[in-house]
Amino acid sequence: MNRVKEDKNIIIDVHLDGQEPNDLHAELRTALTSTPRSLPTKYLYDDRGSELFEQICELPEYYQTRTESKLLSACADQLVSMSGAEELVELGSGAATKTRLLLDAMARAQQLRFYVPFDVSEGIVRRVAQELAKEYDDLQIHGVVGDFLAHLEHIPEGGRRLVIFLGGTIGNLGQEAARSFLSSIQKEMASGDFFLLGVQLETDIHRLERAYNDAQGVTGQFNKNILHVMQKLVGATMNPDAFQHIALYNQAKHRIEMWLRSVKEQKIDVPGINLSFTLKKGEYILTEISTKYDRPRAETLLEQSGFQLVEWFTDPEQLMGLALARKP
Ligand code: SAH
Ligand code: AVI
Repeated sequence: MNRVKEDKNIIIDVHLDGQEPNDLHAELRTALTSTPRSLPTKYLYDDRGSELFEQICELPEYYQTRTESKLLSACADQLVSMSGAEELVELGSGAATKTRLLLDAMARAQQLRFYVPFDVSEGIVRRVAQELAKEYDDLQIHGVVGDFLAHLEHIPEGGRRLVIFLGGTIGNLGQEAARSFLSSIQKEMASGDFFLLGVQLETDIHRLERAYNDAQGVTGQFNKNILHVMQKLVGATMNPDAFQHIALYNQAKHRIEMWLRSVKEQKIDVPGINLSFTLKKGEYILTEISTKYDRPRAETLLEQSGFQLVEWFTDPEQLMGLALARKP
């Protein structure tokens, strides 16, 4: 682990270096040789991927972010007073734009002490820490750059905690992974701490598919960016022009599936993991799933992970859900 004290209110811990190369190589090899082939979703988010995701959040078709923002601004004071939290921990914090709504509510309640942005994308954790240190006097910021599936035990302690996981990022994990991830979060929390889970709700299939097939093609660029990451990380010879962005709703599994479809037969070399294979014309590589929930499915997931649902918030169109839960 590498720790840097950036200024009097900012500490950043980087946990990613220790993970590579062995774990990374095994994970990638398994993904690229499974049927169907896949790539780990977290590699969508290097600095460029995080920027593209920020652009996605502004797209007219991507209703999720603005709906969740509105919902959060309506219930932030209630969340803060119910949780009594002084430490806000955010998993997959990204640009932390919506986070300001909660930080403002904590400041209004005179409860704001400590913020922990936790993300795999180092550039964005550093940027957010600098921005927030300027915006909130005396806020202590302890950023964690790490994989939330591997490094949860490194969340620093700072008082009564509210842990948040927004945007529907839980949907990017499969069912088993989601359950085991929430159970790990629960184990890291103290009895009486609160957890806020943002889920995307199942809605009209056309609205869902439009959100992942925007007219400007930003989501396609975001998807193909994973190939640049593979090039940088392990020298993979995958030319983005030889792939097509595909995002379709799988109704049986309640999820959007995002794929890269090979437009021709092509040989792929991945020298960093000593792997070569041939992709057939039309063969698909899975890069992301985005599962949509309903209230019962979200509640079951939380209960199976050892949480108690305290309050459920949703917007008038029931597009997004915010579940406030508590560790008993
Ligand atoms: N919370 C923000 C950002 C969501 S995008 C919002 O609601 O808009 C998902 C975020 O999770 C990205 O910033 C990405 O870098 C991060 N992320 C994805 N997989 C991760 C992992 N395995 N560990 C840590 N962060 C991860
Ligand atoms: C981060 N996550 C919740 C987004 C989603 O909707 O699943 C990622 C995304 N992928 C394509 N567009 C947005």
